[in-house]
Amino acid sequence: MAQRYPVTSLAAIPPGTALGFNVAGNSVAVFNVDGKLYAMNNTCPHAGAPLSDGYIKGCIVSCPWHGWDFDVTTGRMSGQAEDCQTTYPVHVNGDQVEVEV
Ligand code: FES
Repeated sequence: MAQRYPVTSLAAIPPGTALGFNVAGNSVAVFNVDGKLYAMNNTCPHAGAPLSDGYIKGCIVSCPWHGWDFDVTTGRMSGQAEDCQTTYPVHVNGDQVEVEV
C-alpha cells in the first residue's frame, strides 16, 4: 500500500532544480518545474547516473553522464513511446514535501 514520506522542505527545491532522496528504499528524484513538483526514479536506466544531478530545462532533465533526456512529468525518455522511469505522486503539506511510494 502506498504511503507518504516527508523528504524535504519546499524552500529547498526552488523552480528549475531537483534533489535526490532515498524514500523507503527507492532512489527518487524530486523536480520543481515552474513551481509544480514531480517525482520519478532517480537512477538513469543507461548506466545509473543520478538524474537529480542532471541539467533541467523546462520539464526535461538531461542525464549528467551521457545526456539521455527524460520528461520528468511522465518519466518518458525523449523519442520513446513507452514510459521509462517510474513516477511517484508528490504532495506539499505546509512547507513539507512528501513523496508517495
Ligand atoms: S548514465 Fe544516463 S545517459 Fe548514461
